[in-house]
Amino acid sequence: MPVRAADIAGVAASGSEPPADCPLCPRLVAYREANEQAHPDYFNGAVPSFGEDDAALLIVGLAPGLHGANKTARPFTGDYAGDLLYATLARFGFSEGAYKAAPDDGLVLRGAMITNAVRCAPPQNKPVGAEIRACRPFLKARIEALPALRAILCLGRIAHDSTLAALGLKAKDAPFSHGAAHDAALAGGRRVRVFDSYHCSRYNTNTRRLTPEMFEDVFAGIRRHVDEG
Ligand code: URA
Repeated sequence: MPVRAADIAGVAASGSEPPADCPLCPRLVAYREANEQAHPDYFNGAVPSFGEDDAALLIVGLAPGLHGANKTARPFTGDYAGDLLYATLARFGFSEGAYKAAPDDGLVLRGAMITNAVRCAPPQNKPVGAEIRACRPFLKARIEALPALRAILCLGRIAHDSTLAALGLKAKDAPFSHGAAHDAALAGGRRVRVFDSYHCSRYNTNTRRLTPEMFEDVFAGIRRHVDEG
């Protein structure tokens, strides 16, 4: 079904969190509908951000995994990538409670929030450019709605490029590189530091492109920056 202008206007007005049945991306809507048939017990919707409204750290992932966040309705929850992410958040004091890969595990984030560049599960975990662009207003609004924000951790190049665009920066002025940090201005003159990491995906960790030690080094820099105040 084609997307109607009224749908776009209505959804855009929803700010930092799209409705679960967001209609903006026809391919992702078709995929959601197929998943509702195949997995009626899954959430199957635009996965909301998870964490504190006064977060100093925003983590930007790529998109919900079909059998993880798309099932549980919490970013990275039940996804392979969540094991390393949530373990590292705990180690650096950004969470309390035990992560048990379920939305009712009682885990809370402390001074942090997790979101995704694309909020709906894409086929093969690969959103296309139009989907990344369609979802960007939500990322931009998400960033703008965090008054205590000091650091953004981008997991992978797509999260990095979409975050830079949301901040009004050009990717060529701050190219993605694991371990890099780039300073940017937020509306109202506040500063935020954008940290880059390879995505903590199964592929990257199994091939040791990203080791737990490399990920912890990035988090150590974030912790220092956030604690500097
Ligand atoms: N799950 C998410 O929510 N985001 C990712 O980027 C990967 C898995």
